[in-house]
Amino acid sequence: MRLNNKVALVTGGARGIGFAISKALAREGARIVIADLNVDGAKTSALMLENASREHLGLRVDVANQESVTELLDEIVQQCGGLDILINNAGIGGNTPFLDIKLEDWQRMISINLTGAFIVAQAVARQMVNQGRGGKIINIASLSGQRGGNGRGAYGAAKAGLELLTKVMAVELAQHRINVNNIAPGAIETDMAKTAHDPATRKAYEYLIPMSRYGLPEEIADAAVFLSSDESRYVHGHTLNVDGGFREAGLMFGPDKTPPR
Ligand SMILES: NC(=O)c1ccc[n+]([C@@H]2O[C@H](COP(=O)([O-])OP(=O)(O)OC[C@H]3O[C@@H](n4cnc5c(N)ncnc54)[C@H](O)[C@@H]3O)[C@@H](O)[C@H]2O)c1
Repeated sequence: MRLNNKVALVTGGARGIGFAISKALAREGARIVIADLNVDGAKTSALMLENASREHLGLRVDVANQESVTELLDEIVQQCGGLDILINNAGIGGNTPFLDIKLEDWQRMISINLTGAFIVAQAVARQMVNQGRGGKIINIASLSGQRGGNGRGAYGAAKAGLELLTKVMAVELAQHRINVNNIAPGAIETDMAKTAHDPATRKAYEYLIPMSRYGLPEEIADAAVFLSSDESRYVHGHTLNVDGGFREAGLMFGPDKTPPR
């Protein structure tokens, strides 16, 4: 119970990685606010968390809309008295070749995955500064923000921006005892991956990942528990890759490592 008496906001927690993180933080004793565009999903998922006596909440938010985020924070302060942990996770997938990206799709991607993450992080950080008891902010970035993958122009640019924003937040918020870090998931088996990754993408990932498999949402959740707990108090401005070794791999041989094409 490393997170007893903590309130954690998980954006995009109705399903996928966000839901797995919500379950793991609830198991550690935190009271969870799942905030998602899909409010029915948020409410249903909140009811499925352990320690129901902590009165976990499922609320609506559109992270790309500042008014909606302000309303969410007001509601959290009213119902929970404040918050201690942000898992800045809401996002959309995308896989379009650079030459084909339409401006409107580029702008939608940036407005949710980068601007949306900024809006939420700033609102939460302001609240944490006002509370005066520090806090933890964990941004969910991506391997696609670190390496030039096929079709990841808009998505990768947004996630690379989020990784840099995390460093600036870490520098500026340290004085307020707000700990800021990233988790960068590799290929994780979620609904998003099921729609965004075609068979060729899946084959390429399995070839390029030393562990030769997709990760599980629960494997991201374990990293999120560490970064939400006091055990990570001197880890700051860091990006924790949870990717089966994808980023660090060089030349690989082996019977199963035949090139994907
Ligand atoms: N799945 C992967 O392989 C992978 C890899 C790297 C990074 N990520 C990142 O992890 C995070 C979660 O991904 P996932 O695979 O669980 O996705 P998912 O699609 O399964 O879940 C995303 C959730 O975010 C919500 N959401 C979308 N837009 C929103 C908005 N504007 N406001 C509020 N909520 C919104 C959705 O309703 C959904 O519940 C994302 O930021 C994603 O970019 C995923």
